[in-house]
Amino acid sequence: MRIGILTGGGDCPGLNAVIRGIVKSAPESVEIIGLMHGWKGLVVGESMKLTDNDVEGIHILGGTILGTSRTNPFKSEDMRVKMEENIEKLGLDAIIGIGGDDTLSVAAKLSSMGYKAIGVPKTIDNDVANTDYTFGYQTAVNVGADAIDRLHSTAKSHGRIIIVELMGREAGWVTLEAGMAAGAHLILIPEYPMTIDEIIAYVKKRMDRYGYMIVAVAEGFKPTELENVVGDESKIDAFGHIKLGGIAHYMANIISERTGYDTRSVVLGHLLRGGTPTAFDRILGTRYGVHAMELVMKGDFGRMVALKGNNIVSIPLEYGIATKKLVPFEYYKLSQIFFD
Ligand code: F6P
Repeated sequence: MRIGILTGGGDCPGLNAVIRGIVKSAPESVEIIGLMHGWKGLVVGESMKLTDNDVEGIHILGGTILGTSRTNPFKSEDMRVKMEENIEKLGLDAIIGIGGDDTLSVAAKLSSMGYKAIGVPKTIDNDVANTDYTFGYQTAVNVGADAIDRLHSTAKSHGRIIIVELMGREAGWVTLEAGMAAGAHLILIPEYPMTIDEIIAYVKKRMDRYGYMIVAVAEGFKPTELENVVGDESKIDAFGHIKLGGIAHYMANIISERTGYDTRSVVLGHLLRGGTPTAFDRILGTRYGVHAMELVMKGDFGRMVALKGNNIVSIPLEYGIATKKLVPFEYYKLSQIFFD
């Protein structure tokens, strides 16, 4: 049996733990074929056989030994044909796609076409539906919280407002939990827009009382006055997403103009996706990889592994991609207790 595995979309810590889990738990009769750079590996036919030696100790490494991309093989007929030809040429009996909703949507489409596909949910955004956590998320929260922790001393020393931008396109999970953990005094996430006047009111109240402030803002947040999120509309990826970035700088300028307070902006960006995974993400990635291989051996295709409580389960791939898992209002309301 030959199983193809690939890592697609934004990289994150924990991907290599999944790869190692799949390879180390595969029976002797199963060959694992690594497909390079996400779905692109199937389009161009770039692969490598993975053995125990290739995965020795990689679970502690960030990133992915297979490389990744945001290639969408269904973007053109030519790419789709090449992908199907390479599945045939490589003699793949099944494919395990490790990625976020874009990568998983390709796996779901292949499954609907009759291919044997399994999904493993990955993203620092934690926005894949019907799984409690995606690996990579907890590491990003820890990195974000540490960074925000560090900003309190400099903001306080200068009597400044520092606005910290974290990743999170439609879901503000990373911003909410890193912000709460590190005591940000205002947390702005895409799910719950605010007017600029409301933001200014929080700023004035906080500064009058304490003389410094940390604002955590998700890259996908926009004040209600803005028509579009802040980003580079000339850069659209193969799944139609614009390159986000710049809301912290935008808000810093407005706050400074409106209040006169000394304001700075910091963008954490890809720091949130780099470096070694936490122990939690190493374990979750490992468990996801082992369970994905179990699904293959049981012939249980068209499904995605997921975490429910402390149990690894599997759900239909469609359940993971149908909607985004957004921050519930009750949780955001709880964080508002500490906005001051
Ligand atoms: O999807 C995860 C993510 O980290 C988003 O939060 C972010 O907007 C995007 O990837 C950045 O993508 P890239 O690394 O391709 O610029």
